[in-house]
Amino acid sequence: MTQYQKTQQDLVATPKTWLVTGVAGFIGSNLLETLLKLNQTVVGLDNFATGYQKNLDEVQSLVSNEQWRRFSFIEGDIRNFADCQQACSGVDYVLHQAALGSVPRSLADPITTNEVNISGFLNMLTAARDAEVKSFTYAASSSTYGDHPGLPKVEDKIGKPLSPYAVTKYVNELYADVFARSYGFKSVGLRYFNVFGRRQDPDGAYAAVIPKWTAAMIKNDTVFINGDGETSRDFCYIENTVQANILAATTQNEDATNQVYNVAVGDRTTLNELFNAIKSALADNGVTYEQEPTYRDFRPGDVRHSQADVSKANSLLGYEPKFNISQGINEAMAWYVKSLSNK
Ligand SMILES: NC(=O)c1ccc[n+]([C@@H]2O[C@H](COP(=O)([O-])OP(=O)(O)OC[C@H]3O[C@@H](n4cnc5c(N)ncnc54)[C@H](O)[C@@H]3O)[C@@H](O)[C@H]2O)c1
Repeated sequence: MTQYQKTQQDLVATPKTWLVTGVAGFIGSNLLETLLKLNQTVVGLDNFATGYQKNLDEVQSLVSNEQWRRFSFIEGDIRNFADCQQACSGVDYVLHQAALGSVPRSLADPITTNEVNISGFLNMLTAARDAEVKSFTYAASSSTYGDHPGLPKVEDKIGKPLSPYAVTKYVNELYADVFARSYGFKSVGLRYFNVFGRRQDPDGAYAAVIPKWTAAMIKNDTVFINGDGETSRDFCYIENTVQANILAATTQNEDATNQVYNVAVGDRTTLNELFNAIKSALADNGVTYEQEPTYRDFRPGDVRHSQADVSKANSLLGYEPKFNISQGINEAMAWYVKSLSNK
């Protein structure tokens, strides 16, 4: 039995109360779905800045009425300390996902990204410390590797941030570490590498590459590739990310807290390969796309290559990513075809 299977069994046997911030977003709503299916009690906090009621509605449709009754939602803002205090009250485990994502968004509006991702993070960390929660797990980011050229990325070798967004995510790690030193409040940061899967938003200027291209192909629109297509990423299916969060939150390993971990697969896929993978998975789901992609300029602030070494999460948390990119793409495409085709 894997560590994750054992953890899931233990949670079903002894349910806990979880707080998921950013619960109406992509990763948050997937955490909610898994936790409710494990009969956990979940408090969710979101201000719908980039999340949607329809994500919560979809989760409701996927769980039983009894499971759904274990969910309570607070519409609130992590920039408001009182909202954070209310959300943390009586909670065992915090999974802090709320933030403004996207490198280009942070370049266009660094002030709001800073307010949400740094002040909001500090509010959550402080409220969680005061509420004496059992653990605090937060969404960090692979953008923290910045201009460090090493591949694969190992947790203790980072470079200079390349965007305001990357600064905010690095500051989260610094605050988390300082809270451990100053107050003995230990947390775990999960450096996500390009997560994808159901409910990731395909719309808007700041959509991530997989949902953006998928929606374009389903609508038979042009797919734009920024740069020459040889930029590469360690694309990580959502189920792996959910696994990492649940393992991190519940770990009994003393050495595993006050740490940051890469959360990815440990593989590298170029944008050109990704284009073909999406195209062929869509074809398997009855959507044919015959256009060639259009290449345009590289995007400012983007890292050229990214690939994770996931051995630290494996050895300290028992993390074993179950989905490789093609398995994840197949599942994700089935969902997008179903949810976007009749739009
Ligand atoms: N998706 C990825 O590939 C990726 C990679 C690295 C890090 N991350 C991090 O993971 C987390 C979740 O990202 P996601 O992809 O699910 O994005 P998302 O935009 O779908 O979800 C973020 C959620 O946070 C909410 N939110 C934003 N500002 C808020 C505020 N002030 N108060 C309360 N709620 C607020 C949004 O409404 C949204 O529901 C973020 O912290 C992001 O930086 C994501």
